[in-house]
Amino acid sequence: MPVPRQHAEPALHLDRSGGAPLTVQLAAALRAAMAGGSLAPGERLPSSRTLATQLGVSRTVVTDAYQQLYAEGWLEGRHGSGTFVAPGAAPAPAEPAPIEPAWRTAAARSGRTDLEERPTRGELRERGLIDLRPGAPWVRSVDRAAWRRAWRAAADLPQDDDPDPRGLPGLRALLAEHLRRYRGIAVGPENILVTRGTGNGLDLAGAALIAPGDQAGVEEPGYGKARTVLAARGARIVPCPVDHDGLVVDALPDDLGLVYTTPAHQYPLGGRLPVPRRELLISWARATGAVVIEDDYDAEFRYDVAPLPALYGMDPGRVVLLGTLSKTLTPDLGIGWIVAEPDLVEHLARVRRNLTDRTPGPVQAATALLLERGDLDRHLRRMRAEYARRRALLIEYLGPRLTGDTAGLHAMLPLPAREVAPVVAEAAARGVVVDDTGRTSHGEPTVHGLVLGYGSASLPELRRGCAALADILDRRPPPA
Ligand SMILES: Cc1ncc(COP(=O)(O)O)c(C=O)c1O
Repeated sequence: MPVPRQHAEPALHLDRSGGAPLTVQLAAALRAAMAGGSLAPGERLPSSRTLATQLGVSRTVVTDAYQQLYAEGWLEGRHGSGTFVAPGAAPAPAEPAPIEPAWRTAAARSGRTDLEERPTRGELRERGLIDLRPGAPWVRSVDRAAWRRAWRAAADLPQDDDPDPRGLPGLRALLAEHLRRYRGIAVGPENILVTRGTGNGLDLAGAALIAPGDQAGVEEPGYGKARTVLAARGARIVPCPVDHDGLVVDALPDDLGLVYTTPAHQYPLGGRLPVPRRELLISWARATGAVVIEDDYDAEFRYDVAPLPALYGMDPGRVVLLGTLSKTLTPDLGIGWIVAEPDLVEHLARVRRNLTDRTPGPVQAATALLLERGDLDRHLRRMRAEYARRRALLIEYLGPRLTGDTAGLHAMLPLPAREVAPVVAEAAARGVVVDDTGRTSHGEPTVHGLVLGYGSASLPELRRGCAALADILDRRPPPA
């Protein structure tokens, strides 16, 4: 027996121009609503008095229609509690649509029909597989008590009826301080716009800085979503080569409107852009007038190497920095930031307001509390140690084969092109899911190998996964 639901408000239309009697029309409309599923079994109908008032008919019209439907078995009465759709009044199975639904044609025209279907991390976990794909942090060490405290306090705050598109002033000030301490850049709240993460930040930068047809350089291989987001804002994507140090600045064309780069830890090859190349990139931007978009996604994590200055600090007039808590805390929070000159922050805020885009206030308030109380600092300290352990484990099993492992949460394992597919398949057969560079390439991959993430799997899983990979690689026939 379905649980009785609150009373439904069916949309009923009666024709008063002299057609069928109103009782007959009302019964037919209710029958159609029940058959079509908009009135579900167990749902309570309005009282005859209420419905009569709503429809502007006499109460008798409604009681007579209800009586008719009782008699036909569509409705049932429960003593003292009203009129309900009978359990058996289920909707007739839907007829297959005779023509292609309009959205399909529109979706095909949009050109986004080849979107990759990847199993989610939860699905892989349910299937008992070990997930060594890059992109996820270890979220199971987030301090539950601190998390609850922040959300409870955020829930107590008053709500804003006109949220500032730049974000909460308090959070912007806390993020400025965070950036000063962790990234060595001297900024104030006026330099910060709180986003929902890197993707959102890049989308807003694209909306504000790209005219249709502008050329946007993206590292090749590089972050596929950066290509997608910029292209969706009308940019023509220009793949820009990288080597083991990062973006090859000498190879940048002069006619780019902007260039997207990951200097702290190139995604996916893992290079850290050396200072002379950073200086060269800034000189290139000054000479060409291009904007540099610096994706600083995992810069808080580095191992046995000194920090490198953020590009933004080298020339705030040429660089827009995108940050995120997706790696340092959890992607589930949906908090990131854009760092830019105050005038650009104001411009981005206007663009954002016009796009009706915003970062939810309660999420910002909870984040501010995590920063204010030092919970994020504590988490970062714990996670730096955790990822150092994980990286050590990767090195223990795969050491000499790895490259780009001095920062972030992933490393590269270069392979000859013909070895990639068999190794990925063998790993999958042994329950270990790995990514290759295919997803990070604009066209055919120019760099070949595995991109190994060590954030998603547990430490024991990571050990098993690395041992399986080492075993697979050791058994592969030597190159001819
Ligand atoms: C290169 C790069 N940038 C940024 C992000 C994080 O994006 P977001 O903040 O939108 O979650 C990722 C996540 O995998 C990434 O790989």
